[in-house]
Amino acid sequence: MSSFRLDDLISRLSERASRIFKNRETLRPDYIPDELPHRDKEIYKLAEILFHPLLRGDRPSNVFIYGYPGTGKTATTKHVFKAIKEKLTPRLQVPVYCLIINCKIDDTNYRILKEINDFFNIPTPHTGLSLAELYNRIVKELKRRIGFFILALDEIDNFVKKSGDEILYKLTRINSEGITTKVSLVGITNDLHFKEYLDPRVKSSLSEEELVFTPYTADQLRDILYARAKIALYDDSYTDGAINLCASIAAKEHGDVRRALDLLRVAGELAERRNDPKITEDHVKEALKIMERDKIWEVVISLPFHSKLVLLVIAYLQERFLRECTTGEVYEEYVKMCREIGQEPLTARRVSDIINELDMGGLIKANLTSKGRYGRTKYISLRIEKDEIFRALKEDERLEFIIQSISSWSR
Ligand SMILES: Nc1ncnc2c1ncn2[C@@H]1O[C@H](COP(=O)(O)OP(=O)(O)O)[C@@H](O)[C@H]1O
Ligand SMILES: [Mg+2]
Repeated sequence: MSSFRLDDLISRLSERASRIFKNRETLRPDYIPDELPHRDKEIYKLAEILFHPLLRGDRPSNVFIYGYPGTGKTATTKHVFKAIKEKLTPRLQVPVYCLIINCKIDDTNYRILKEINDFFNIPTPHTGLSLAELYNRIVKELKRRIGFFILALDEIDNFVKKSGDEILYKLTRINSEGITTKVSLVGITNDLHFKEYLDPRVKSSLSEEELVFTPYTADQLRDILYARAKIALYDDSYTDGAINLCASIAAKEHGDVRRALDLLRVAGELAERRNDPKITEDHVKEALKIMERDKIWEVVISLPFHSKLVLLVIAYLQERFLRECTTGEVYEEYVKMCREIGQEPLTARRVSDIINELDMGGLIKANLTSKGRYGRTKYISLRIEKDEIFRALKEDERLEFIIQSISSWSR
């Protein structure tokens, strides 16, 4: 293509881009708006827990925050931390240090302690340090400074499930180390049962105060979406129907704002690509389909190898027999495939467990029937498009060859 036509394409694309999105970035999940509609109560409660003691010169209680994903826990905490920095600190005699660590990213004891060291500009050598030394350096620093340190551990369940709660235990006891910068912890989790994982001493100390975020209703989601659409989209580029549909779909999924915003963004991208003037319900419906497909893709490509193999066998048998298949048929074919690709097959028992896991994960449907002369048999069928499965499984190069030979066979 000549450069002239490329220029033309670029200008046409940017013209189109400007038709729907005024500021696309504000629909991304890491964008935090200045206003958080329908979270006044939570903002107020968290601020009260933290501000009151700070204004009196006392250490705030530790707080434990939980609620479903996308209910504004991270956004609310960041909002309150910003207010501490901008509005509260100028009234206090001593500094308040606020740090949020995303434990989905920093998911080990080492990384968490290292983040705190970095936050206080304590240099650590490239060769690394022991956990004890990283911790001691924090204590030393907190003895050198005077004030308060509010440490939020976001998605805390990720790190505790992976690395245990030893460091958490130490952090809940850190104020007894004779430090002059008093520490308060804010633990945030999407996992409503997370507390059961914790040592009772950590549990009681971490939840001196508790804050529960309830799911947004469809009406609340609609308000949040309209507020965001005002910043992100041009006034005449979306229909009420589209906003309502995004809100009602997300309301059914625990009131997850992230989901609603993603839907609106993907729907907007579809409208833009097609050169349609407005985002409509049809765009949202199609966005939903695309997002579901992406989700399935993610699930399939992250399965362990033998689970992929079992799934492949089920898809293959369904294509060959054009009917549901039984556990026995799946196992027989699975063993054959293992031989063909030089893999040691797992036991029938283990494959039966894998079938249950695939069923629970929503990829297949396994119905147990107790009739018939063979006693109890499971009838297995796919819950998703066979071609989707083949496409995702092909990503695994160990399966590429076998998928190719299957498809040349069935032609
Ligand atoms: N009340 C609200 N008003 C506006 N945006 C919100 C609100 N609650 C959440 N969001 C937005 O939704 C997304 C997910 O919120 P987040 O705080 O990360 O949820 P959680 O931490 O509970 O999973 C973020 O982009 C956030 O800015
Ligand atoms: Mg969060």
